[in-house]
Formats: sequence, structure tokens, C-alpha cells
Amino acid sequence: MSDVLKKALADAIDTTRRNIPAFADRYPDDTTVNNWYPPRPARDGFPQGANEGWTTSFIPGCQWLAWEMTGDNAFRQAAQAHAKDFARRVHKGEGLATHDLGFLYTLSSVTPWRLTGSQEDKNAALAAADALMVRFLEPAGIIQAWGDLVDPAERGRTIIDSLMNMPLLTWASQQTGDQKYADAVRRHTAQLAQHIIRADNTTFHTFWWDPSTGEPLKGTTAQGYADDSCWARGQAWGIYGFALNYEATGNPDLLVAARRCADYFLAHLPADGVPFWDLVFNDGDDQPRDSSSAAIAACGLHQLASLETDPRLADRYRAAGQAMIEAVTAYSPQGEGVESDALLLHSVYNLNKNEGVDEGSLWGDYFYMEALVRHLNPRWKRYW
Ligand code: GLY
Repeated sequence: MSDVLKKALADAIDTTRRNIPAFADRYPDDTTVNNWYPPRPARDGFPQGANEGWTTSFIPGCQWLAWEMTGDNAFRQAAQAHAKDFARRVHKGEGLATHDLGFLYTLSSVTPWRLTGSQEDKNAALAAADALMVRFLEPAGIIQAWGDLVDPAERGRTIIDSLMNMPLLTWASQQTGDQKYADAVRRHTAQLAQHIIRADNTTFHTFWWDPSTGEPLKGTTAQGYADDSCWARGQAWGIYGFALNYEATGNPDLLVAARRCADYFLAHLPADGVPFWDLVFNDGDDQPRDSSSAAIAACGLHQLASLETDPRLADRYRAAGQAMIEAVTAYSPQGEGVESDALLLHSVYNLNKNEGVDEGSLWGDYFYMEALVRHLNPRWKRYW
């Protein structure tokens, strides 16, 4: 099987190489249309192709992975050009009103700092961490996910995806020696472990706190099938995000949370191992898959296995992660024998809004490639 994974990684690297010119100074949209990325549309006052939204950093993320795997400087130069644009974005204050600064600046700026020691990228990432800290709400001790902090429609809400934004703050604490970032990670992740997982190990996509009293209020969904269902990608963010934050904080509740997310996810897969977009669906349902959830879960299970304190569980999660990445290679363009500039087909972005349904996605591409790199190169040092 490792030949299948090696071929899949070689295919992913080839596509990443072919995309360098098209993705150089004009960002593609979050998801493909009929398997091809259109330019990022003009929106929210930004022109077409601008560096806005939460997904643009997955392009340099793939390029850094490709550079590490090949040593080809074409990838490094392309990723460094993106890093410059991300530094411009944060220093100009463009599109920063989101918790997704962690997704954006971990891959675009912390990663080149880790791999090349660039001071400019370190400064950009620290500026992004400070912008993320503005969203830390007292007394709840959570980081607000979306929107303006004074918008009553968004105030006090966090989402499970936020777990993946915490590594930027953990890194900022390590670099500056300032505990405030690590304290925010500790409090935010403890709140999620307590409230965003239900008793049956499913997760809410979003959870609300009263912004003035800090009282936990209720869980709802934004991208899942229903408020009480289990959005597949949220559960996958939970596996990977709780595992990463367990390592960062040492809080054993986060290890338990990662296990609970993993156990439910693995118990609700269809026969081919790639989940439907919400885990309420399974074989026999006329619903699309979300391959990106499988790619994220493959990374998360690999991470969880490396931290697991129970050796039997470590073996179980390692084997499940391996099976998942093997299953998901069938959803690549090469696995299906179709032409595409995506690395992975069949993600669902937001079915409720009919956005990016059954398409390639920038995050699906990145986590697919990271999962292949992880499973083929046990010594690879993660970016998060
Ligand atoms: N973080 C947004 C998503 O997973 O769609």
C-alpha cells in the first residue's frame, strides 16, 4: 500500500507544481467549480483574486510540503512570495476580523519562519497572533469565531474549527515568553472540551456563551445538517484540534476529548471509509461525501496516536489513520481518472448554502497532502 501512497504524493506534488503560475498573483476560490478552481471572486470590498477569507494559506502550505519533499526551489520561491503577501495583509489590517488567523498565519508565516528562519515572517505571525487575541472574550474565556466583536448576531459564539487556530497562539507564547497567549489557549480549549462535545461523543459545530456573564448557552450548527447532528468536518477538526491542544497544554481532558471525537467518527464511516458530509448519513443515503473530513481525520488520528498514553489505543488510532488516508486516495483526480487542478475531489464546503458541494477545496488539498507526508515520512515535523 505504501506504493499507492507514494504515487498519490507524487501526483499531489505534480499538481502543486503545475498550479504555481496560476496561483501566483491571483488567489483561486475556496472550492472548485466542476473540479477546476475559478479565480477568487470580488467580495467584501476586495477585488477578484485578492488574498482574503480563510483558505488562501493552504496554497503556500502545499508548496512548503512540496519543497520539503523535493528540495525544488520553485516551491520555496512560490511560497515565499505568498508569505510576503500575508505580511502585507496583516500589517495593513486586511480581513483580520476572524478567528481563522490561525489557519492563515500558521501555514503562510510560522511555517517559513520554522523552515527558513525568516524574521519578517515571524513578525507577521506575531502580528496575526495579537489580532487573534483581540477576539478573546472575558469573562467566558473563549475566542469569538466570526464577525465584528460588537455584532450581536455573532457575539459570544465559538466553533469547533477554532481548535486549529490555537497553535498560532501557542507558538506566540513560546516566541515571546508572554503567557497571555498560552492562557487563552488553555481557557478556550477547556471550554470547548466541556461544552462542544455532547454526552454521546458527537459535537456541535458552534456553541454560544453569554458575552456579559460568561454563562454557556447553547449549541447550534452553521454547516451541519441540523443543530443536533454531527457535521463530519467539525468532528475531524475535533480529533486533530483536541490532540494538538492536548500536547500544547498538557490538559488530560483534551486527550479524552480527542479520543471521543475519534471514536465516534470511526464508528460512523461508510464501507469505503470516507464519510458523508454529516455523520448522520451513511451508506444508502443520497448525500455527498466530504473527503476533506477524511484527510483532516487522517492527520488527526496520526497525531493522536503519537501522543496517546495507552499503547493499545495508539495502535488503534495509527491503523485507523493509515486506513483513512489509503481510502481517501481513491477520491483524488488520479484515483478517479479525471482532470482537475485540485489535489482531492469531493469536499463539501457548506451544503446549507449550496457552496462548494462535491468539489475540490483548498483545505482538502492541503490536509490530503499533509496526511500523505505524515504517513510516508514519520520524522516530518508538523507545521501546527
Ligand atoms: N473552517 C471552515 C470549514 O471547515 O468549513
